[in-house]
Amino acid sequence: MKTNKLPAVSFFKVLKNAKQILKNPLPFHEGNFKRFGDTFRIQLGFGKEVLITRDAEFAKHVLQKQHKKYFKSELQTKDLGKYLGKGLLTINGNSWLKQRRLIQPAFHKKKLEILTDTIKGTVLEQLERIQPNKEQDLYEIMNDLAFQVVAKALFSTTDLQNEMRRLQEITAVVQKMLIKEIRQPYKKWLFSIRGDVKKHLDLMIDAKKIIQDVIDRRISEAEEKHDLLDMLLNARYEDGSKMSQEQLIDEILVFFIAGHETTSNALSFMLMLLGLHPEVQQKCYEEALAVKDTSSAFEQLKGYNYIKKSIEETLRLYPPAYFTDRLCIEDDEYKGIQVPKGTNLLISFYEIHRHEEYWEQANQFDPERFNVSDKKQNSEYYFPFGAGPRMCIGNNFAMYEMMITIAELVKQYEIVSLPSQIEVEPLITLGPKSVRLLCKVRK
Ligand code: HEM
Repeated sequence: MKTNKLPAVSFFKVLKNAKQILKNPLPFHEGNFKRFGDTFRIQLGFGKEVLITRDAEFAKHVLQKQHKKYFKSELQTKDLGKYLGKGLLTINGNSWLKQRRLIQPAFHKKKLEILTDTIKGTVLEQLERIQPNKEQDLYEIMNDLAFQVVAKALFSTTDLQNEMRRLQEITAVVQKMLIKEIRQPYKKWLFSIRGDVKKHLDLMIDAKKIIQDVIDRRISEAEEKHDLLDMLLNARYEDGSKMSQEQLIDEILVFFIAGHETTSNALSFMLMLLGLHPEVQQKCYEEALAVKDTSSAFEQLKGYNYIKKSIEETLRLYPPAYFTDRLCIEDDEYKGIQVPKGTNLLISFYEIHRHEEYWEQANQFDPERFNVSDKKQNSEYYFPFGAGPRMCIGNNFAMYEMMITIAELVKQYEIVSLPSQIEVEPLITLGPKSVRLLCKVRK
């Protein structure tokens, strides 16, 4: 069957629902999946369309089995790359493979072991900002925490606070601009003539300068720090050469962008879920308390089994990377559907994670689904970090960071407020709308 025989949402319908789609496309997608099944087309006008799927096998086919036939879309390469440059997240083909091979060892579990004490120290510092017995926006704290953790893992030094604050400000402002450009493509000309794009590109030049200065300082110090920057400076391509400074800066920017908002969103969702499920919170607390504080942060992680399952379940219900997209670069076929070169594909991880055929009582929060015995089966339908060779390079880093944060937070505080419901805000990543929670100090 040709893809043009698949059911389609007309451009007229897209226009009619434009306001809702701009605000939150998830209900629009859900309604159409119910109506048309697991894969359908969305017409975008001027002959353009996108194939959207919540078929887990199709997702594996595209991301893993036939990944060579699919590249990252313009959105991830051109639009994001305009600001970020040419780092792992925004490049394709051989240049991506070369970078991935070079950088992967820095994220190996053995290397991360060295970083976990730094991660824990930063987490504890940030948690001190929680004000007990007062309703407070915990998102802000989680956001700063996740940014600082990436900053410390990369640069280890403590004397970069002003620089890192400025870097955080810039990345936040530029991300806002990017969302405008993606959601309102018809206003691109306006953003351009008004100078908005130039202004934000200039900000990114400032951001790159900050990173450049940190690297220059490190090189002149000639002292080993055992952090990510050291690992990247010491990494060598197969021919023995090292990364250019320009490439290194782009990669560092990618770690900040890919690694900070995703993690802070996941942590924020988890805190809300703990507020809504005191029995889960209690179990996390008991587990965290049972782990002795005397061993290294890495050793302690081994005791956090239930906390890990709770995070995994949070990422199922609220995957911060709630979709990904690809462009087909070579004719392909999946279960009788012919996918011609040039097809744009949108894979909804959010919908796969809540698919009733894959998950029992899919909308319920139940960490027990992630018991070791069910894990293999679940992994067929579970994509919080993507799949295949372009799977998240920071997945272990993020899991360690989140396990440490949740363990340390529930040891000190009890989240006592019951949020009435969790409202999502789907931007570039999926985040919660508001995370106002009240924490009580544990006696
Ligand atoms: C909860 C936290 C995180 C989530 C949910 C997440 C999710 C993802 C997903 C789904 C992808 C694949 C996207 C695709 O296939 O199109 C990805 C890629 C990536 N992530 Fe993460 N991520 C997280 C944390 C991190 C952290 C902490 C880092 C680094 C410090 C990081 C760095 C990257 C990079 C560099 C890529 C691109 C990999 C490549 O294309 O080779 N992520 N992430």
